[in-house]
Amino acid sequence: MREVFDLYTREIDADPFAAYGHLRDEHPCYWSDKAGLWILSRYDDVARAATDWEVYSSTGGNLIDDIPGGVGGTLGATDPPRHDRLRALVNAAFAKKNLSHMVALSRTVAARALADIAEKQAFDFVADFSSVVTVETLFTMLGLAARDPTEIRREVVLAISSDKDLCGRNDQQNAAFQRLEQFLADEVAQRRKTPSDDLITRLTEAKIDGDRLDDREVVLTISMFVMAGVEPLSSFMSNFALNLADFPDVRRRIARDPTLMPQAIEESLRFNTSAQRFKRTLTRDVTLHGQTMKAGDSVVLAYGAANRDDRKFPHADRFDLDRAPVGHLGFGVGPHFCIGNSLARLVTQTTMNMFLAAIPDFTLVRRDFDWLQSSNFRSPMELPLRIGA
Ligand code: HEM
Repeated sequence: MREVFDLYTREIDADPFAAYGHLRDEHPCYWSDKAGLWILSRYDDVARAATDWEVYSSTGGNLIDDIPGGVGGTLGATDPPRHDRLRALVNAAFAKKNLSHMVALSRTVAARALADIAEKQAFDFVADFSSVVTVETLFTMLGLAARDPTEIRREVVLAISSDKDLCGRNDQQNAAFQRLEQFLADEVAQRRKTPSDDLITRLTEAKIDGDRLDDREVVLTISMFVMAGVEPLSSFMSNFALNLADFPDVRRRIARDPTLMPQAIEESLRFNTSAQRFKRTLTRDVTLHGQTMKAGDSVVLAYGAANRDDRKFPHADRFDLDRAPVGHLGFGVGPHFCIGNSLARLVTQTTMNMFLAAIPDFTLVRRDFDWLQSSNFRSPMELPLRIGA
């Protein structure tokens, strides 16, 4: 039987929104035979499930195609109370009040990237701006040696993508994750020998219930920051830039009045978030919309579909700068609400205001660019732009 919503097609990678509408209206609790899991798409169902961690557990991992050995050791793949203790270890580093140095740093990196772009007429927003800004800013925060952003992004992209034919991960993708893991393991070993003033050192010294985190837990936690930070943040900025190219009136309003930037970011997180879908595992049977999902079944929470639900956001398929999209699920909700939300908002606000001040008018050159092959994320692999209206 043809899949109503096929997580493993290029069409869904590029544009899941029409299919989401069909899911929400006709199959709100949908069993995908091909992927072997349930998909929830209505706002109320997704928000309730994300909050109800005792029934919708993260201990089976939160990525639909899990990274090898990633389950159980890190924030996204644990439930309270261990989850809350792990999160408490890193909370301060991500608190808004402690991020002013990150904002300053992102400003410096963005200024350099914009100076390079100024010499061109056409450029790739992903390679020339969003990935440079995110990799350099986040790696400094984490305390990782400066690396070539293009190379890092290439590895992360491979490590988090999934294989369409296997409906899961292939050897090449697993090998990319293992290379990333080895690089981080070397950094952790170095910090154990020579502590420094950074997040990796703090994690190596932290204790939960009197026990130190072991090396694997530290590596998995940092790798989650690398993957969550580099890909969703860089892709969110690119999706946002795509919205600004598609809606020139909105772009011009923000360029004229930069105080509109925060509300534009919130609407873009609702309309077009990069983090589209995450997974949970049921701890007991649940009946929803006449379907019984069994204990042990995997359930996808389609945040991107919930964000386009007219039942919650009237005319949800419209990008509306004047909407206050309170309660959008661009960063999830509940215990796993994105810990990087303030960082993502501040870096995007700072650097996109600089971008629009330097380049108030830009046009999408072509629409046939590739999208990340992923069951979780919606990420343009490039965004070819031309300066000028
Ligand atoms: C605009 C950019 C971003 C978006 C759209 C985004 C989105 C999300 C979403 C939807 C979740 C919930 C996952 C779930 O329900 O299982 C999440 C969790 C998480 N995010 Fe983000 N994220 C972004 C940026 C970042 C950044 C910059 C970092 C850190 C460097 C980060 C680190 C994390 C972590 C560690 C979690 C797991 C939190 C937990 O389980 O307690 N994210 N993110």
